[in-house]
Amino acid sequence: MIVFTGIQPSGVIHLGNYIGLMKQLIGIQDQYKSFFCIVDLHTITANKLAPNELRGNVFKMVAAHLACGINPEKAVIFNQSIVSGHTELSWLLGCYTPIGWLNRMTQFKDKAGRDKQKASLGLYSYPVLMAADILLYNAQYVPVGDDQKQHLEITRDIASAFNKHYRQDYFVLPEALINSSRVMSLRDGTKKMSKSDPSDYSRINFDDSDKSIINKIKKAKTDSILGFDIDTLSARPEVCNMVNIYSALSDIKVDMLCNTISKYSMERFKKELVDIIISTISPVRKKMTELLSDKDYLLKVLKHGGDKAAGITHQNIKKIKDIIGFVQW
Ligand code: TRP
Repeated sequence: MIVFTGIQPSGVIHLGNYIGLMKQLIGIQDQYKSFFCIVDLHTITANKLAPNELRGNVFKMVAAHLACGINPEKAVIFNQSIVSGHTELSWLLGCYTPIGWLNRMTQFKDKAGRDKQKASLGLYSYPVLMAADILLYNAQYVPVGDDQKQHLEITRDIASAFNKHYRQDYFVLPEALINSSRVMSLRDGTKKMSKSDPSDYSRINFDDSDKSIINKIKKAKTDSILGFDIDTLSARPEVCNMVNIYSALSDIKVDMLCNTISKYSMERFKKELVDIIISTISPVRKKMTELLSDKDYLLKVLKHGGDKAAGITHQNIKKIKDIIGFVQW
């Protein structure tokens, strides 16, 4: 079974990325043939970073994967732009994708803003490139956040359209592996924890100092209800979020956890939450700093993964071109 996932090189990771994806990937690399791709080509559809910043963010993302426990001998980790099969297949699949499907994509509508005429072709065809990422490896499972469901649906539609046109089941129809533990903003428990939130107090970054983590949790929004009763938790979004974070980091189920802390004061709970966050983040932060001071090693890891991915995708592109009827030798 093959698993593929893409993560944007958004700079340093936060607690939401860690709980929502990284933790899951560590288990996945032992069970499946895994491809973890840093999708730098997707990044330029929206954020035109300065060249050095883009490069820096890719290094930060590899370092974050390795520091969290991804093993480059188990999982293939690489940056998307180095494997030309991604862009090549994206072109090919674009020719089997009706624009009516792309017009329905909610992410494009959100990101394009008011003046759609000014949005780039790259942003518009983002879902085709994402479909190419997945189908290029014939991945069966795709770990993603639930905001990516629609992209998985269009991937399946594109794969089916191709298969149907050539009357063969070449492409595997991939399934999303949606992680149910979603980490929300510390300022507003109804919004996802996100790098793009203007308030840095809404998230815990993996390069935050212990002092800053203490401060952020101290200031995290709560309510005036006493104790931690599991039955009322769902009506208390911010408190529920903090309990979920504790549960995810300690691997203690929420109901068990609520039994233990039911009579805790908020202060006591927050203190224990800080402790577990710091004990999770501090070794990762240390390892990330070490790794980032050795760019040659990080490049070696990317090259190792990129070479493996290129070998596989070269073969697959050949098969796809053959199905379409291109002349090759
Ligand atoms: N669109 C995904 C996101 O923003 C990133 C992504 C790009 C991806 N290609 C992918 C995810 C392929 C899974 C598989 O989260």
